[in-house]
Amino acid sequence: MIAPSLLAADFGNLQRDVEMINNSNADWHHIDIMDGVFVPNISYGIPVVKAIAKYATKPLDVHLMIVDPDRYIKTFAELGATNLSVHYEACTHLHRTLQAIKAEGMKAGVALNPHTNIMLLEDTIKDIDVVCMMSVNPGFGGQSFIENTYDKIRALKALIERKGAKTLIEIDGGVTDKNAKALKDAGADVLVAGSFIFNSKDPVKTIQELKDIAG
Ligand code: DX5
Ligand code: ZN
Repeated sequence: MIAPSLLAADFGNLQRDVEMINNSNADWHHIDIMDGVFVPNISYGIPVVKAIAKYATKPLDVHLMIVDPDRYIKTFAELGATNLSVHYEACTHLHRTLQAIKAEGMKAGVALNPHTNIMLLEDTIKDIDVVCMMSVNPGFGGQSFIENTYDKIRALKALIERKGAKTLIEIDGGVTDKNAKALKDAGADVLVAGSFIFNSKDPVKTIQELKDIAG
């Protein structure tokens, strides 16, 4: 699956870019929320997500890069999020947070920074619908892909299989047509791509190309 990241959209033409995703073969709209504390950047907030949700026709995949994400679970459920991912590094009581996300009717996601070992999810993996594995340090689009990600995907895939979990593996950061196939072969189910899609001449075609490579 392919999840274009709206972080790379033209915010002066947000409706146009959301509709581009609607009219493409993409699977999810990836929405990056940054608070300037958990990550050294502020992206956009609730009014902008409201505007995205108004036009989006595909599932909203929300990636919270914020401290103490429990404060906003209800808000994002009301905004219409399908998936809500919180960072492992931002949660003191991850299991409780996952239950709270599900209680609001959303799929529960956990995002992992590049330095965070996948074995830390051993005791919660069966409660996680999607792991958003960061293949760059979160905070900015357009960074280059960290090669160690392949080993992490393989290890996570093995953990999911060993535990009999149904968790999807999503890769976020530096995804291009150069690494999409290798990511899929390593075990990725969903590829997030921002700058590669939005900086291309024909984003709908680029989404299709990624889809053809990675499915
Ligand atoms: C980074 C965000 C990503 C970002 C990906 O912190 O979580 O979703 O938008 O952008 P690219 O594809 O440009 O690396
Ligand atoms: Zn993201």
